[in-house]
Amino acid sequence: MAQKSRLPASYEVLVLAVLLLPCLVTGVELAINNSSDNQILSTKPGREESLWCTVRNNSRAEELRWYRDSGTVNVKDGNKINTTNICILPVSKTDNGVSFTCKLVRDESIQISVTLDVQFPPLLTGVDPPPVEEKNDVKLTCNVNSNPQAEMAWYKDNSNLTLKKDRYQIYHTSEVFQLTIKKVEKSDNGTYTCEAKSVLGEMRKEFHLTVEDRKPVFPLEAIIAATVVVVLTVTFGIVARREKILKVTKASMNQKTS
Ligand SMILES: *[C@@H]1O[C@H](CO)[C@@H](O)[C@H](O)[C@H]1NC(C)=O
Ligand SMILES: *[C@@H]1O[C@H](CO)[C@@H](O)[C@H](O)[C@H]1NC(C)=O
Ligand SMILES: *[C@@H]1O[C@H](CO)[C@@H](O)[C@H](O)[C@H]1NC(C)=O
Ligand SMILES: *[C@@H]1O[C@H](CO)[C@@H](O)[C@H](O)[C@H]1NC(C)=O
Ligand SMILES: *[C@@H]1O[C@H](CO)[C@@H](O)[C@H](O)[C@H]1NC(C)=O
Ligand SMILES: *[C@@H]1O[C@H](CO)[C@@H](O)[C@H](O)[C@H]1NC(C)=O
Repeated sequence: MAQKSRLPASYEVLVLAVLLLPCLVTGVELAINNSSDNQILSTKPGREESLWCTVRNNSRAEELRWYRDSGTVNVKDGNKINTTNICILPVSKTDNGVSFTCKLVRDESIQISVTLDVQFPPLLTGVDPPPVEEKNDVKLTCNVNSNPQAEMAWYKDNSNLTLKKDRYQIYHTSEVFQLTIKKVEKSDNGTYTCEAKSVLGEMRKEFHLTVEDRKPVFPLEAIIAATVVVVLTVTFGIVARREKILKVTKASMNQKTS
């Protein structure tokens, strides 16, 4: 009896699944501004960009949802069914690399994205290093913000920095262009220029390096040894004097009692 009732039940599930499958996602696709491929949108800070997402080949009303990277974007109620648009106003530098994705609410695996490529000329920032003593190392850190990436160079007092000198080290990432000078010499004192060039423009930033005379150094061990000697001398001095003082008082007391 138990077997008989189980069989029709699983048949029902199977039939239901077969009936449901075709109406899930067949043929439905999304497009942004008439393109059904993921896109990269080149733009500039301050611009306004509007994106229209539309469902295609749908047999019924479909709700759409926008994401800014992984976070949902709130849109008005009348801007969700079959077609939805968002406006990025204004585009900012921080939008660079951000993806706007339109998804079918009923099945979020159906989606399409536009990734922003926000292009702007190089911007350099940084602060002068504190004055550095001769023989110490120093870092000049030039922060770079540029898209596309800029070509970078260091100059000293407006002439090319000879990078053959093994005291110079360059550390270069997409965000930082850093010059390290090992064991600075008096002749390293001066003005250094960080330069960035891209197709959209160029910028220079000056860094002033002040090299100071080396201050005389006392080795720590010598200081400790000297301190110990002084402390011991003083301590022994007091102990010796105290014994003397005690003897004197004892002697005078003895005199009084006798
Ligand atoms: C959408 O429908 C058109 C014809 O109506 C068809 O050519 C196209 O292949 C369909 N797209 C998808 C993704 O099924
Ligand atoms: C999509 O293409 C049609 C016909 O080419 C055009 O009328 C419509 O404005 C386009 N829509 C968008 C959002 O670009
Ligand atoms: C998308 O289409 C709309 C309407 O045609 C247009 O105003 C907008 O500039 C388009 N956006 C992009 C990124 O092409
Ligand atoms: C959305 O599209 C479907 C299929 O074409 C249609 O039946 C429905 O009326 C549309 N709904 C809206 C609000 O446009
Ligand atoms: C600096 O070096 C670059 C490339 O090595 C060269 O093109 C340029 O002429 C040099 N500039 C000066 C001022 O020496
Ligand atoms: C060291 O460099 C600083 C900043 O570039 C400059 O003002 C100063 O005159 C220089 N000092 C010497 C001794 O060259």
